Amino acid sequence: MNPDFTVRNTSRVYVARAEELLPQRLCGEQVFVVTDEVVEALYPDLLPHYPHICIPCGEQHKTLTTVESIHRRLLALGADRKSFLLAVGGGIVTDTAGFAASTYMRGIRFGFLSTTLLGQVDASVGGKNGVNVDGYKNMAGTFTQPEFVVCDTTMLRTLPEREFRAGLAEVVKSAIIADPNLFERLEQTSFTQLRSDEALLEQVVRAAVGVKVAIVERDEREAGERRLLNLGHTLAHAIEKCSHAMNHGEAVAVGMRLVADCAVRGAWLSAAERNRICGLLTRLGFVLESPVGLDRLLAEVGKDKKSDGESIHLIVPHAIGHCEVHTLEKEALQTLFKQDK
Ligand code: GLY
Repeated sequence: MNPDFTVRNTSRVYVARAEELLPQRLCGEQVFVVTDEVVEALYPDLLPHYPHICIPCGEQHKTLTTVESIHRRLLALGADRKSFLLAVGGGIVTDTAGFAASTYMRGIRFGFLSTTLLGQVDASVGGKNGVNVDGYKNMAGTFTQPEFVVCDTTMLRTLPEREFRAGLAEVVKSAIIADPNLFERLEQTSFTQLRSDEALLEQVVRAAVGVKVAIVERDEREAGERRLLNLGHTLAHAIEKCSHAMNHGEAVAVGMRLVADCAVRGAWLSAAERNRICGLLTRLGFVLESPVGLDRLLAEVGKDKKSDGESIHLIVPHAIGHCEVHTLEKEALQTLFKQDK
């Protein structure tokens, strides 16, 4: 089967059924499956012929300790340099297992079966693998492309509503960054329709993956344009660090709202486009109020270990389908947001 996308000539992305793709892709390999407890319970019969390494669920386990536990299991099971690691799960599983594969014996081949919407449209595609260190996101990791990514939208049927919605935040993000047609299509549909109409969902996933692949093709290592994929994420990471009230997608929705407000104040974005962004997010069921006060959020952004010295790269929407990277001193960022109060 031909892939829907190819990233950097090395990584093939399929929006297709796992049962059709995996037998072809894994034929003849010595495969080790890494998954988590939830996926293992939902799909007990998935890939029974290969050894499974099951990791605990939750962002708190996206750590070097979990990577080490995968390495130890691979070693105990006799994995060698020719082995193939298949990660099956959402973003936490693919980020962690991708890092484990890209460091085991200095790197073995790996692929992903992505089982969440957030994973399919963002985390699994593009070659970023990594884990958190001391609560700071993705502080240890690699840029290594998986050989393939399978996005099977039928697996999203078992996804809880809240997690499905979280993935939609990343879909809206992709639309705001580079795909005004996708944005319009989302405006013309509803949360219920997206959840129930599989053909529509497949189109939407394909469009969002297309945005990501095009950007990663031009800037794999995030020297510039790839930063656009962080729209809404500067504040979202601060929200997630200060409060457990929101998951990643919910926090990204609030982050996109806050940055759209800033963009209007800075005269980069029209009020009408800002209202379309907030209108769509609200219709999809997102709460756009931050559970954490702006002062606390900005203090957290100031501490961000990933900032470039004293500067922050803030992604600002200039129109639906067009965003730009603004490099701001931390103080200028504070001033920009504080006018909000
Ligand atoms: N999730 C953002 C990126 O892959 O660059």
